[in-house]
Amino acid sequence: MKLCMIGAGYVGLVSGVCFSDLGNNVICVDKDKSKINALKKCIVPIYEPGLEEILKRNFKQKRINFTDNLKDAVTKSDIIFICVGTPTKKNTNSADLRYVFSAANEIKKFIKKYKIIVTKSTVPVSTGDKIEKIFSILKKKKLVDVVSNPEFLREGEAIRDFINPDRVVVGTNSERANKILKSLYQPIVKKNSRYIKTSRRGAELIKYASNAFLATKISYINELANLCEQTDVDIKDISTGMGLDERIGERFLRAGPAYGGSCFPKDTRALIDTGKNFKTDLTIVKTVVKSNENRKKMLTKRVLTILGNKIKNKQITFLGVTFKPNTDDMREACSLYMIPYLVRKGVKVKYFDPSGKKNIFNNNNIEYCKNISSACLKSDLIIIHTEWNEFKFIDFKKIVKKNNFKVYDMRNIYDPKRMKLNKIKYFAVGRKV
Ligand code: UGA
Repeated sequence: MKLCMIGAGYVGLVSGVCFSDLGNNVICVDKDKSKINALKKCIVPIYEPGLEEILKRNFKQKRINFTDNLKDAVTKSDIIFICVGTPTKKNTNSADLRYVFSAANEIKKFIKKYKIIVTKSTVPVSTGDKIEKIFSILKKKKLVDVVSNPEFLREGEAIRDFINPDRVVVGTNSERANKILKSLYQPIVKKNSRYIKTSRRGAELIKYASNAFLATKISYINELANLCEQTDVDIKDISTGMGLDERIGERFLRAGPAYGGSCFPKDTRALIDTGKNFKTDLTIVKTVVKSNENRKKMLTKRVLTILGNKIKNKQITFLGVTFKPNTDDMREACSLYMIPYLVRKGVKVKYFDPSGKKNIFNNNNIEYCKNISSACLKSDLIIIHTEWNEFKFIDFKKIVKKNNFKVYDMRNIYDPKRMKLNKIKYFAVGRKV
């Protein structure tokens, strides 16, 4: 099929590349010319394992291309995917839909024969209705169907998530559009996953409901971790004991710092806002957002306690600063709150992140290091903030040249017993050690 992705950001690029790998012809459109030029040289502007290889393969076979010419891309395609950002509007909870509506208005100008307009961007329930209004004349002439098809890709695992989806959700009441989308997704949905057709509003809401539920699961286990610390129980046992109940499930029950990223914080806020617009008080989601904000402060205070509240001129090392491993995305990472706060209190911070993330903080007391050893060398406290694989087997005694250094493992990577045996002062999350 001939597909066009509007927006070569995370969603548009990953989906476009994966669709081309399934044998479709894909054109990705973006207003950012430098991005388009880089992509034409198969340089991927985001950190996503495996993406560049698949892009190169399909670019060579001429199944995928990039352009800033929207007219050309829309004219040549049968299905147009809107994959632009929906960030939070400044000082509000609501999703900023200006890029979505502006894309729809642009696309409208170039439709002369039947096309399916698919919203992949995460948009609040009823946005599809507004997009359809933009296309109302074309809709009357049966030249377009406006469909919702949210994505469920995790950064760092996006290729796997695309190829092996738990489900594909398509929201439309058009049989014609549904039939076409079903055959588009047929190569991947036959692998035990499910193709779910629902209403357009239903599809829009499934996306928010899923992200908010996962955020709730994480906040729930994080709060229980606090209780575990007070009761001398290991949170890992709680996660396993709960998770083996198939109704609950083991995934997303890992306690850690506050959840972050480009999706959970933004989408929980937007869902609260949607609730308000539709006169529905989503008290659980509101509490989750609050709990997550509190968590950042709570863990930062714990850092101060671990250092005995004597922090002036102490050196703290952050291993990992991104919101999770296998990404270079810093959006709403807990470190963005913690590091500046601690520095204001008088500590010096060194950090290393395998994504190569540097120059984030622009402060003389925050220094990027090239590797784990140089970041830890003279550290008083090493904080494992992100669970990158290369942080899992560190010989702390060998690399840290400071007496009485401490380790605060915010991802519970290490075994407390082993750390005790090695005489390392070790602190973790939800485990009294
Ligand atoms: C999330 C969803 O998982 C995807 O399904 C969805 O498509 C995506 O948002 C989106 O809306 O586009 P992502 O933000 O890439 O994906 O990251 P996750 O792997 O979900 O992690 C989010 C945060 O939760 C991270 O800060 C992570 O460290 C934290 N987390 C996750 C935990 O603290 N504990 C867990 O057990 C799992």
